[in-house]
Amino acid sequence: MRFDILTLFPGIFEGYLSESLLKDAIDKGLLEVNLYDMRLWAHDKHNTMDDRPFGGGPGMVLKVDRVVPCVEEVQSYAERPGRVVMTTPQGRRLTQRVVEELACEERLLLLCGRYEGFDRRVVDILQPDEISIGDYVLNGGEVAAEVIIDSVMRLIPGVLGDESSAVVDSFSSGNRLLEEDQYTRPREYRGWSVPEILLSGDHGLIEKWRDLNRREKTFARRPELLDDGPLDD
Ligand code: ADE
Repeated sequence: MRFDILTLFPGIFEGYLSESLLKDAIDKGLLEVNLYDMRLWAHDKHNTMDDRPFGGGPGMVLKVDRVVPCVEEVQSYAERPGRVVMTTPQGRRLTQRVVEELACEERLLLLCGRYEGFDRRVVDILQPDEISIGDYVLNGGEVAAEVIIDSVMRLIPGVLGDESSAVVDSFSSGNRLLEEDQYTRPREYRGWSVPEILLSGDHGLIEKWRDLNRREKTFARRPELLDDGPLDD
């Protein structure tokens, strides 16, 4: 899968792309990630990417005549155009279902907003998939783009060591329950003990305990996740 990231702050991604699972996936060739500094598409001597909004008001707006040519040129860098995703608090909410949908694409272009946002005509012309990672406002779309990459890459075959782990993740289509509690050594710490069943070696009982733990936890913390699934007494 190929990601093209279009941003005014490419440096934000450098540490993120060079660590852990993401680095391994890139090194293995399972993932290609390209970073583009949108400022290279500002052809005036001050590299202007933004301007004051018509009608007045606070903040600056990213200019349509910079952003659209940038996206069009980056689209032309691969044989097939990718789906354009714009990170914005006004977008549809990123859920595991949306992540699964995005993971079906061969190529995604992630367009990261800053300031007060994009000139509306960027959306009119490019018709991007506008995505929000939650009801709060970030300083820019870069962190949201990292969240999208992070959640989507887990679903690419070969990225996770254990293929089954993405399937059983909470919120995936096959699982609407939160994950069960996990313990490791020591068996006791400051008077807090590991549940006896987990030490019993009885795999049938352990599986029952885990299933109950997932259901109780989901019921207590996120009851709405159980709304369209069966839950007995
Ligand atoms: N840019 C600023 N806030 C955002 C959010 N919540 N989601 C996506 N992009 C954003």
